[in-house]
Amino acid sequence: MLTSPGPREGKSTICANLGVALAQADRSTLILDCDLRRPMVHKIFGLRNDRGIVAILAEERRWQEVYQEPLPGLKVIVVGPIPPNPMELLSSRRFAEFLDQARQEFDYVLIDTPATDLVPDPAVVATQGDGVLLVLDARDIRKGAVLRAMRRLQTVGATVLGTIMNDAKVSKGDYYPPP
Ligand SMILES: Nc1ncnc2c1ncn2[C@@H]1O[C@H](COP(=O)(O)OP(=O)(O)O)[C@@H](O)[C@H]1O
Ligand SMILES: [Mg+2]
Repeated sequence: MLTSPGPREGKSTICANLGVALAQADRSTLILDCDLRRPMVHKIFGLRNDRGIVAILAEERRWQEVYQEPLPGLKVIVVGPIPPNPMELLSSRRFAEFLDQARQEFDYVLIDTPATDLVPDPAVVATQGDGVLLVLDARDIRKGAVLRAMRRLQTVGATVLGTIMNDAKVSKGDYYPPP
């Protein structure tokens, strides 16, 4: 699962890129857009947003009926119409059951979520996921915000796997091309 302390730190962008990289490395990968407030994954891949995770959780559709495949090996489940009750959906037993299915089906399931500072959704999703990647905008890191995000995630027992520095400046001297 990917989250970050604040909005616009690059969660959705990193999630999409990570999905592409894993698929290109022949790992079967599912990206699940669980930012039910401001869904973005469909925009990044230019996908339809007519139905997705909301329809699955409402038991209207099976996941096999709603996924899209923007490139071989990368399946994406978009949000669909924004629901009035995101927290209820994400904390439902149906969500946990769906994730169990997805775990069995794919090598990797990447879940995009909102910012921890804005809404409780990421903490709820974290209780169902195996690990959290904390995306940080490298140009605007505030220690207090990072600590607050870590505390929120650890309070619910989430395993924070590490951080991803987005938009970090890499000087040319630090770059070693592959041999
Ligand atoms: N490393 C980057 N370089 C350039 N633009 C970026 C980078 N990361 C994110 N962006 C842009 O910043 C905006 C916010 O990114 P997004 O992934 O939607 O953030 P979040 O999901 O955390 O709200 C988007 O327009 C995205 O294209
Ligand atoms: Mg996002």
